[in-house]
Amino acid sequence: MCGIVGYIGSRQALPVLLEGLSRLEYRGYDSAGVALGQADGVWLQRTVGRVADLKREVRQAPAASLGIAHTRWATHGGVTVANAHPHTDATGRIAVVHNGIIENMTALRAMLTAEGVVFRSETDTEVLPHLIRRHLQGDPVDAVRRALEHIRGTYGLVALFADHPDVLVVARNGSPLVVGMGDGEAVIASDPQAVVEHTRRVVYLQDRELAVVSTSGVDVRRFDGTMLDLNVELIDADYDVANREGFTHFMAKEIAEQPRSVRRCLRGRVDADEGNARLGGLQLSNRDLAAVQRVITIGCGTSYHAGMAGALAIEALARVPARAEIASEFRHRHPIILRDALFLAISQSGETADTLAALGEIQLKGGEVMGVVNVVGSTIARACGRGVYLHSGPEVAVASTKAFTSQVTALLLFTLMLARTRDLSLTRGQEVARALASVPEKVAHYLDHPGPIDAAVAAVKDARYVLFLGRGFSFPVALEGALKLKELAYIPCEAYPAGEMKHGPIAMLEAGTPVIFVAPTDDQRDKAISNMMEVKARGATLIVIHTAGDDEMAALADVAIAVPPVLDLVSPLVSVLPLQLIAFHTGLALGRDIDKPRNLAKSVTVE
Ligand code: G6P
Repeated sequence: MCGIVGYIGSRQALPVLLEGLSRLEYRGYDSAGVALGQADGVWLQRTVGRVADLKREVRQAPAASLGIAHTRWATHGGVTVANAHPHTDATGRIAVVHNGIIENMTALRAMLTAEGVVFRSETDTEVLPHLIRRHLQGDPVDAVRRALEHIRGTYGLVALFADHPDVLVVARNGSPLVVGMGDGEAVIASDPQAVVEHTRRVVYLQDRELAVVSTSGVDVRRFDGTMLDLNVELIDADYDVANREGFTHFMAKEIAEQPRSVRRCLRGRVDADEGNARLGGLQLSNRDLAAVQRVITIGCGTSYHAGMAGALAIEALARVPARAEIASEFRHRHPIILRDALFLAISQSGETADTLAALGEIQLKGGEVMGVVNVVGSTIARACGRGVYLHSGPEVAVASTKAFTSQVTALLLFTLMLARTRDLSLTRGQEVARALASVPEKVAHYLDHPGPIDAAVAAVKDARYVLFLGRGFSFPVALEGALKLKELAYIPCEAYPAGEMKHGPIAMLEAGTPVIFVAPTDDQRDKAISNMMEVKARGATLIVIHTAGDDEMAALADVAIAVPPVLDLVSPLVSVLPLQLIAFHTGLALGRDIDKPRNLAKSVTVE
């Protein structure tokens, strides 16, 4: 979602800003802009569309070593040049870029309008430069601080003052910002991706902190003015977004990477002899684990689906009541936070605002939340303090793939630990540990032998509707498959537990309707076969994801895609793979923007 880059130093700011925006493109956006500090005011250029379009439009830009830039994902106001950031005050001498949402913008716009301000955009952000101007009496830092006293909502912002070319003023409340400290220069960004190529030394701003960034360094203070010690950290070297490494798309690369990313998630965490797992970051003793009476996962999108797969496994193996919650719903329905529950906040990016808000609510009520997060040092990881890192490496494609398999892997490791503190025997524990350890090899085997994906793509690509079905552990996989196909191909899809089909969605079936049935061999196999017969009786086209060797099931399908045999609770890790490939190739066949589907954002930092 929205991206911020700022530069102050001795180099030309523009190339640094544009390169930074390019590195944030993966987060999703619909317009972009840049402001450069000049003695006669702010030089501004904004455009609807891609960073590449902005690059073409800034060819005549003046020289400047101070600037801010932004990619915007529309919230308040449509996708127009006027709504794109940066926004300036009436004199054109202050420019601001902002991520987050100003909740009291209507009241602030009314107040400023009454004072004679003429708004030029429909955004919430535009109140910021006007408010800062209203409070500017010489000191830019004080003006920002006093302007923020009016603001209710979330923000990560950078303010540039044409009359103070020696500083950029930065503030954070709920929307991440990092200041990269180079030699005589600083790069500010909403995501370390835009900083890492310049410096690995960074300062992460915390909520209600304000930083003054200059060529000689950075100082950080609380909103009340208290100066804070600098907490300089080193960004992980492998934080750098890898290039596509010869793949046509990041999504293809990330799908192919899964044997390695799952292996990284498992590394050092499976104890085959003891039939157990080790997740040191949870800092939970066996006694602590044994005291857990229920587990609740919190997440959005793909992370919610991973949570569902995890919750089912926890109930099945550890016999601990578990359920998955959609983060955006959870917080707003006044949830009951029981002290003996363990909450797991699942997030690839570690920045999703809904998940962050839900975990804040849980913590407020004294609940224990642990993170299951990919991005090291991200806001959710920090807010939780304890948890499991996925070690998937950067995921760039908006549609999540390798993060899902790592999330499910991490949750299965946790399931095994939890189960072993209860009545799971050593022998059964060893069986599960072996099953987990063999996943990378099974994933690799499937990706080398993906089966008739083309035939599945031919069946769905012109469909008006696609139904995904699954039972038990395969239902979250069906949900994830439907989400992927929606995201990539823009085809209406829905996912249902197969047994529920007869209570409604069966009305949608007619000759040729594609039905993708996720049915690895498990104890629900015979029921799944009955559901397949119901589908076939309506003339629908049946695409079945089945376990290799289950010829009876394969024979029922119009398109049969075999996945390697695995233990039932591990099956989501292999049966999701063909669904990722079907979505990818269908999107490709339809000419979609695979890595950046329309309207979506990689990291959704607004609620
Ligand atoms: C966005 C992305 C999804 C992702 C979801 C949760 O909607 O487009 O791919 O699953 O956010 O993101 P998180 O980073 O919290 O896993």
